[in-house]
Amino acid sequence: MKKILITGGGGYIGSMLTTELLRLGNEVTVIDALKYDKGSLDHLFYEKKFKFINGDIKNFELMKKIAEKNEFIIPLAALVGAPLCQKNKKEAVIVNYESITNLLQNLKTKQKLIYLTTNSGYGVGEKNKFCNENSILKPISLYGQTKCDAENEVKRFKNTISFRLATVFGASYRMRSDLLVNNFVQRAVNENLIDVYEPNFRRNFIHIRDVVKAIIFSIKNFNKLKSEVYNLGLSSANITKIELAKKIKKQLKNLKIKTIKNKADPDKRDYFVSNAKIESKGFVAKITLDQGIRELIQVFKNNKKKIINNY
Ligand SMILES: NC(=O)c1ccc[n+]([C@@H]2O[C@H](COP(=O)([O-])OP(=O)(O)OC[C@H]3O[C@@H](n4cnc5c(N)ncnc54)[C@H](O)[C@@H]3O)[C@@H](O)[C@H]2O)c1
Repeated sequence: MKKILITGGGGYIGSMLTTELLRLGNEVTVIDALKYDKGSLDHLFYEKKFKFINGDIKNFELMKKIAEKNEFIIPLAALVGAPLCQKNKKEAVIVNYESITNLLQNLKTKQKLIYLTTNSGYGVGEKNKFCNENSILKPISLYGQTKCDAENEVKRFKNTISFRLATVFGASYRMRSDLLVNNFVQRAVNENLIDVYEPNFRRNFIHIRDVVKAIIFSIKNFNKLKSEVYNLGLSSANITKIELAKKIKKQLKNLKIKTIKNKADPDKRDYFVSNAKIESKGFVAKITLDQGIRELIQVFKNNKKKIINNY
């Protein structure tokens, strides 16, 4: 049993992670302002080992008090995504960067921190080349910049692990439909049409349950993994946007795919990523895109409740 603090534990990744950590018998504290789905943790409040604080991580004094009681700290609270950060520039820097430096400054010798950042720091990758952890980071949005800056701070501390995540897909207690796979499947189900900008842009993906498994793996194998940064994605899911759309069409035969030729996508991410480093330590993501697409088709067909995205 570990004592674990998760900031943003009510979010897309956090609500799935908190659920699994509690199921495994850990004592979990979540601080979250529940900005989007207010009910994402409802199924957990009856658990004795679950403590919830409806609060703001910008309250650094409060954070210091909460953090010191836990062995593991997993800071997920953030303004997530390029458009949201662009709209709230000052807050993005405080929440995504300063809150992390604050946690690090107060970290005690025995405490451990596991940080999730985006691999969008790779920006636009080189042709026919996979980005690895040594590739130069050149984020193309304020979101990417704040996450890379925070990762740089995290790297200075030994008792830390950073994961650079591929775009996550799959169902969660707090659903997001702005993420690429989730978004394509939602449009396929609701409109029977996906229009694809920049169809040959390369992207990589990972199922949300594999993200949760990787974090649990890193808690269990902390000493083996610590003081390093790892890419975290599904190695068979380095594909272009048009290939993704075609995968969805395999399961929704009547789907129409329209490629938009002369319009630029504001999201310029275009790269393949190698996961060899984390795989060599013993963690391999396994849940396929086909499996996730099947899951998402059901979610969007059955559940017509409004999803509150970040922007
Ligand atoms: N989902 C992805 O594809 C992905 C990829 C790479 C990295 N990440 C990282 O994983 C983390 C979680 O992402 P997510 O997809 O679950 O996003 P999310 O937006 O669903 O979750 C963020 C949570 O943080 C909370 N929050 C935001 N500001 C807060 C504040 N000031 N005080 C308290 N709570 C606050 C929100 O209420 C929300 O529940 C983020 O750090 C993100 O950068 C996500």
